[in-house]
Amino acid sequence: MKIACIGTGFVGVVTAAVFASLGNEVVGLDIDEKKIDSLRHGVVPFYEPGLQELLVKTQAEGHLTFTTSYELAISGADIVMIMVGTPSAADGTADLKYVYAASEAMAPYLKEGAIVIVKSTVPPGTNSKVHEIIERGTKVFFDIASVPEFLKEGTAVEDTLHPDRAVIGATNERTIATLTKLHESLTKNVVIVRPESAQMAKYAANVYLASRITFANQMADLCELNGADVQEVLAGIGQDKRIGTHYWYPGLGYGGSCFPKDVKEIAAYARTVGETESIFIAVDDLNEKRIPRLMEKYDKLVGGFAGKTVGILGLSFKPNTNDTRVAPSLKIVPWLIEHGAIVRATDPKAIDESKPLLPSSVTYVENAYEAVRGAHIAMLLIEWDEYKKLDLGKIAASMVAPKYFFDTRNQYDPAAVTAAGLQYKGIGR
Ligand code: UDX
Repeated sequence: MKIACIGTGFVGVVTAAVFASLGNEVVGLDIDEKKIDSLRHGVVPFYEPGLQELLVKTQAEGHLTFTTSYELAISGADIVMIMVGTPSAADGTADLKYVYAASEAMAPYLKEGAIVIVKSTVPPGTNSKVHEIIERGTKVFFDIASVPEFLKEGTAVEDTLHPDRAVIGATNERTIATLTKLHESLTKNVVIVRPESAQMAKYAANVYLASRITFANQMADLCELNGADVQEVLAGIGQDKRIGTHYWYPGLGYGGSCFPKDVKEIAAYARTVGETESIFIAVDDLNEKRIPRLMEKYDKLVGGFAGKTVGILGLSFKPNTNDTRVAPSLKIVPWLIEHGAIVRATDPKAIDESKPLLPSSVTYVENAYEAVRGAHIAMLLIEWDEYKKLDLGKIAASMVAPKYFFDTRNQYDPAAVTAAGLQYKGIGR
């Protein structure tokens, strides 16, 4: 099948490479010449495990090409996937200007019978506007479907190659048959729904998971007050099949490019339709307050951060990515510096990305042991593999009293950390 992928951001590049690896003829299209030039040379402009290799392989096989020309990409395409960004507008709703611009630009080149898939996360009802815009620029028959994306950064290739399900929002029988065939090589779990439900399902999945994380965080806060350990509490409920043990760890609140934005969009949507007593609004609010509240707690515990050196482990928003969008470090490091701390920071992949976003007084170092050298406090922010198996004795030897070890992801056995000569502080335990 001939597929045009509009937008070569995170979702666009992964999706293009995966569909190309299945033998489809895929063209990636973007208006950003620099990005396209880099991709043409087989270089992914961000870090994502396995993607670089897949890109080079599918290009060498001749299944994947890149262009900035709408005419080249769209002419002859059976399927056109819109995967452009939807930044948040000032009122918290999604700004759809790029989706509409892509719709307008593709219209003159669409072939008869083409299927346009909206993969960008958009509110229910967007497809009719997209249809209207395309219709103005073409005389051919085309159909529009919604197929939301559920991939996670850090495991995006694997998630796209082996998704738990594909949700296809379409009503036209031919479109349903074509898209089912396209996705069946990835998963047998193809769920056919109306487009509005597919769009809502994307929000619902992210908002549900974000609420689950917020629940774990709220539970952790209570545990801290009554001698319970939240890890034990979660283990105690996880065997209930309705609940499960997965995706269930408390910490600094959710970050990244999707959860904060999608929860805000649904909260904004709830407000606009008058549903102001909404769990979505509460989840967003609680997540916004998560880090400031924790920092206040830590401040009391250490007797004020002024003059203290803090070693920060992990600057990205989660492991296995150099993405720093809504990363905890972006709130925590400036907070520490404003409160007089001296910050030494490290990350396996995201130092270059963090430098322009963090105060200039931060010292960046190569590894965790360097980060905690001479530090009064160590803060593990992101559970990169290499920070999960630190030599605690070596960490303690590098630090100076009071040697606090803030394990904000509950990765360590508190007793082992204490035995190494550090003062342990986890989350909800
Ligand atoms: C998420 C969704 O998982 C994915 O399905 C969707 O398509 C895009 O958004 P991603 O943002 O890549 O993916 O990261 P994810 O691994 O889900 O983590 C999001 C945030 O939640 C991170 O800040 C992470 O640290 C936090 N998190 C995750 C927790 O605090 N606790 C958890 O149990 C899981």
